[in-house]
Amino acid sequence: MDGRTFFRTFRDGGDKNGMTELVRLTDVTKVYQGGITGALNGVSVAVEKGEFTAIMGPSGSGKSTMLNLVAGVDRPTSGSVVVGGTELGQLGETGLARFRRDHIGFVFQFFYLLPNLTALENVLIPAQLKGNPASGRARELMERLGIIDIASRYAARLSGGQQQRVAIARALINKPTLLLADEPTGALDTRSGEQVMELLSELHRDGQTILLVTHDAKLATRHAARVLSVIDGKIVDDARLESPELAASDVIRVRGEEASR
Ligand SMILES: Nc1ncnc2c1ncn2[C@@H]1O[C@H](COP(=O)(O)OP(=O)(O)OP(=O)(O)O)[C@@H](O)[C@H]1O
Ligand SMILES: [Mg+2]
Repeated sequence: MDGRTFFRTFRDGGDKNGMTELVRLTDVTKVYQGGITGALNGVSVAVEKGEFTAIMGPSGSGKSTMLNLVAGVDRPTSGSVVVGGTELGQLGETGLARFRRDHIGFVFQFFYLLPNLTALENVLIPAQLKGNPASGRARELMERLGIIDIASRYAARLSGGQQQRVAIARALINKPTLLLADEPTGALDTRSGEQVMELLSELHRDGQTILLVTHDAKLATRHAARVLSVIDGKIVDDARLESPELAASDVIRVRGEEASR
């Protein structure tokens, strides 16, 4: 499938309810080489466009694996991963690289900025890979994320919270269809973590689809609209948070059960 077909799928895709399905995993398994048990053991789930979904679960339960499959940085052992109407399994390596560049923004726990580049230069990297001079958009984004004052500082000299906001701007520079975040607050103090989550909420209110992995049930239930709980490579709970307070106790219940295993 070429790039144009792909875009058309995104623009026109929509079901009867006016919702647009953006991600669908069907019977996905992942067994890493040398792995005794599967990292994912039959995951089926769909995510609509515009949803802010948190994925929670104990260490080793398969959260990052799931995110990596959706991002097209890894392939499932079996099952299908469809993003924006495209079966990622049908794309070759070049197609997957293009898919990631054009449709995925990824934010990591440890930021992964290039330390010898300035904040602005870091934000611009994905745009340059696309051959897209985006310094206007970069400045707008940095203004919005509260980091315009540090645009010309070297990444190595920034605080964790500042680095994560630069990383978010970098993830957003190419206007990704899907923003994926794997423990984006995991290396931050409580206050910076709150700020990052507040930013993600704002982006969600503006229509950004977000898939977030977090260990923090409080942050997840306060900001996300849906929480998927993963244990041993399976989704064991899928809670839509109509009323965040009520749903928080549900999620904490699931986590309590996990802890007693
Ligand atoms: N590259 C890899 N090679 C082999 N095994 C892997 C690899 N990546 C992950 N695993 C294994 O797959 C399982 C799921 O790992 P994954 O990283 O998805 O867990 P996680 O839920 O993200 O955990 P954490 O909360 O600690 O980040 C674990 O048993 C892990 O050891
Ligand atoms: Mg992980």
